[in-house]
Amino acid sequence: MTRPFFSKDRITHFEIFERHAQDAIQQLKTRLKEGYPVDIQDLVSRFTMDSATEFLFAQDVQSLSAGLPYPHYSPLSQSLTGSTHPANIFSKAFDEAQRTLAFRSRWGKAWPLTEFWEDKVQKKMSPIYDFINPILAEAVSRKKATQQQGQGEKLGANVDREVQDGESLIDHLINYTDGRDTTTNSISYAIYMLARHPGVLSRLRDEILSKIGSFRRPSYDDMKDMKYLRAVINETLRLYPAVPFNVRTTNKPTLWPSKIGGKPLYIPANSKTPYSVFLMHRRTDLWGPDASEFDPDRFLDDRLHKYLTPNPFIFLPFNAGPRICLGQQGGCWVTMEEDAEPAM
Ligand code: HEM
Repeated sequence: MTRPFFSKDRITHFEIFERHAQDAIQQLKTRLKEGYPVDIQDLVSRFTMDSATEFLFAQDVQSLSAGLPYPHYSPLSQSLTGSTHPANIFSKAFDEAQRTLAFRSRWGKAWPLTEFWEDKVQKKMSPIYDFINPILAEAVSRKKATQQQGQGEKLGANVDREVQDGESLIDHLINYTDGRDTTTNSISYAIYMLARHPGVLSRLRDEILSKIGSFRRPSYDDMKDMKYLRAVINETLRLYPAVPFNVRTTNKPTLWPSKIGGKPLYIPANSKTPYSVFLMHRRTDLWGPDASEFDPDRFLDDRLHKYLTPNPFIFLPFNAGPRICLGQQGGCWVTMEEDAEPAM
């Protein structure tokens, strides 16, 4: 149901990202001119929140226009306008609902016991529903009207069923906003790495200026062409994968191959196996002796053919298999093959 949403047509809506990026850079410049530092993660989070909500709902929450927070030592940090702005209320509710959900997963199956008297997530959701419900109601009635006239876009029986069931649609839409934190963290870490590696920053700047120049907006083809940019993004995702830990459960008993020459491992059905992509991405036996260094060239020079090409599953920032990230093409351009299908 979700995959058509991530077609090449949709993910190349660079105009949306360009507009919000310009807004973010302008706010950054203004605040620096005032003599205050800027919290980059907060700034990027506002940029991704506005871009993601406009991409998904055709209307953004305008979190950039709520203004950037001032550092704690500034008298302006106490200003009330920030905390009462609808976008900040939305973001705060979103963060708190996510934190409560993370808490549930730590309790495993026993989590309902911790919420015997109330559903702690629903309690936090009302500012989110206040934003989404009117947009969704309008979209559903528009779709029903065009269907009655026989002009409805045929998206398949599943989508039609979902449209009848507005609540389930909301759940899907909120699920896509997963792309907000992953993208925010990846951009923040990329900026952090560029700040700490001025040589990489200057080479990346040269590539962008030579391929795009100072004024034009990059196209999908430009993105494919900027090999160093892709290497910088990949190297950031290697050292700081936005989903650093994950878990899978076996639905039937299975044997896992062990290290070469070792005995295979028996994994019974219904066993949870947690694993860490963060640790795997830093293993010297998989990536070489310099695994903990930030060096985008490892995705371009001999090291690529020595380590990654023969063993592609050592790099899993977007996971792999049927549940691979649906946003990876738009999110980071790791595989920019035409019409690339996720590995199954
Ligand atoms: C740097 C950016 C991103 C990273 C590192 C990332 C990473 C991931 C990972 C590791 C998963 C798999 C989770 C699992 O297997 O349990 C995933 C799933 C997913 N991602 Fe992303 N993601 C990014 C950006 C995005 C964006 C921008 C969107 C959408 C706008 C998005 C939408 C999704 C969706 C819908 C799934 C669930 C797919 C499914 O379960 O079938 N992601 N992402």
